[in-house]
Amino acid sequence: MSRRRFITLEGGEGVGKSTLLAGLENELGRLGQKIVCTREPGGTAMAERLRSVLLSPQEIGDKSSPVAEALIISAARRDHVENLIEPALSEGNWVICDRFVDSTRAYQGMALSGEDFDALAKIATNSVMPGLTLLLDAPPEELLERRKQRGAQLDRFERRPMSFHNDVRQRFLKIAKSEADRVVVLDALRTPEQLVAEAILHLKKVGLLPEETNTGAVS
Ligand code: TMP
Repeated sequence: MSRRRFITLEGGEGVGKSTLLAGLENELGRLGQKIVCTREPGGTAMAERLRSVLLSPQEIGDKSSPVAEALIISAARRDHVENLIEPALSEGNWVICDRFVDSTRAYQGMALSGEDFDALAKIATNSVMPGLTLLLDAPPEELLERRKQRGAQLDRFERRPMSFHNDVRQRFLKIAKSEADRVVVLDALRTPEQLVAEAILHLKKVGLLPEETNTGAVS
């Protein structure tokens, strides 16, 4: 089966997913492709409501059960897949999503057995998996420092200790290792232009874009 035109961007806090998403949208748009950009948790009215509950320290405090988090995020994901991602793909669009099921494995997966996680992921995604996942990787210390310096307001996850963020990073890298055909690791400390160029190269490598595509992206 050919790969879905469904690209997910993954990584820890402040790795630059939004910047890469905007760059990719721009580059694919220049090539005349139809693109739907979205995010998780979120993307539909119901999922966005669940997102605001989940990320707000004011609403639910700093502590919550990671299993409960996984269930809420999975409910949001199923609504997003059924009502936005699948219809957009069926209509011939590319879908670029800021975070997807790998984030749940990296942030909440440690609280569930592998079997339970896989079962939950299957229901939540309706077995719709990305054709390519770009994992932006860098030491969390550097990234969170950059966010704090910019005066960003930290959400419930960003406020967690550095050891949590380092564990999240390692879990993402483990996913990339075990699913090397789908997940590619990019150095998040490279420039936005370099990252877009690398992403385009990978889209060509997996056959999502023809090799001869002439892009403006420079590496
Ligand atoms: P972001 O939009 O800044 O990436 O924030 C989303 C937050 O939600 C981020 O801190 C990670 C967290 N999250 C999870 O913990 N599990 C998930 O499955 C997803 C999609 C996000």
